[in-house]
Amino acid sequence: MRKDLIFDTHAHYDDEQFDSDREELLAGFPEKGIGRVVNVGSTLASCGKCLELAEGYEHVCAAVGVHPSETEPLNEENFETLRQQSLHPKCVAIGEIGLDYYWPEPGEDVQKKWFARQLELAREVGKPVIIHSREACKDTLDILRAENAGEVGGVIHCYSYSKETAGEYLELGFYFGIGGVLTFKNARRLVEAVEYLPMDRIVIETDSPYLAPEPNRGKRNSSLNLPYVVERLAKLKGISEEEVRRITWENGCRLFRMTS
Ligand code: NI
Repeated sequence: MRKDLIFDTHAHYDDEQFDSDREELLAGFPEKGIGRVVNVGSTLASCGKCLELAEGYEHVCAAVGVHPSETEPLNEENFETLRQQSLHPKCVAIGEIGLDYYWPEPGEDVQKKWFARQLELAREVGKPVIIHSREACKDTLDILRAENAGEVGGVIHCYSYSKETAGEYLELGFYFGIGGVLTFKNARRLVEAVEYLPMDRIVIETDSPYLAPEPNRGKRNSSLNLPYVVERLAKLKGISEEEVRRITWENGCRLFRMTS
């Protein structure tokens, strides 16, 4: 019934850039074509806000997790808080978690430790993972394989690696988060990967407030920009925009184990 709407599988509406109009924006989504949003945690502090937002709106769900660049303050005590938060009925995934070697801090060992630990948490609570992986392609794959993450399932958010690497994540059973970058003029490598990917493994995301698509590149992003991504994806795949919305909606529901 709602499959003509768009499922935004990755956004950060807890970000201060939305302080002035957050409620109005979120409340208006269903009538503007955005049927579901997963608001994704990135710091310990943001996870509580993600759950609060999810409690406030039927069409908003949460993911709780700590971004690799934010893992330094993690310890056994606050990890227990994260574990409790992950049990919330509106928490549909653990994320975003992973490795980010673009930023030198915290060191690789700290990032790897908490990546593996959060993968274990996902297994324990039976929820999929949202992976952030930047300039850490090999280590991400190694850890996902070592932890049998295929059994946990999840999505590679803002997919940015090659078509060849996409094949390896496909084998693990992962989904691919595709957003505004697809519309950028220098997106040749991503276009190649998307052409290669089967449509049933692609989900749509914004990463709001970041990564607004053309023609709004550089501005604050919101889910309302997703029709530009749908349009580009439809052209690349040679299918209608309606089909893109329907298929990516179903994929999002399968990924997060929600009823459609
Ligand atoms: Ni994100």
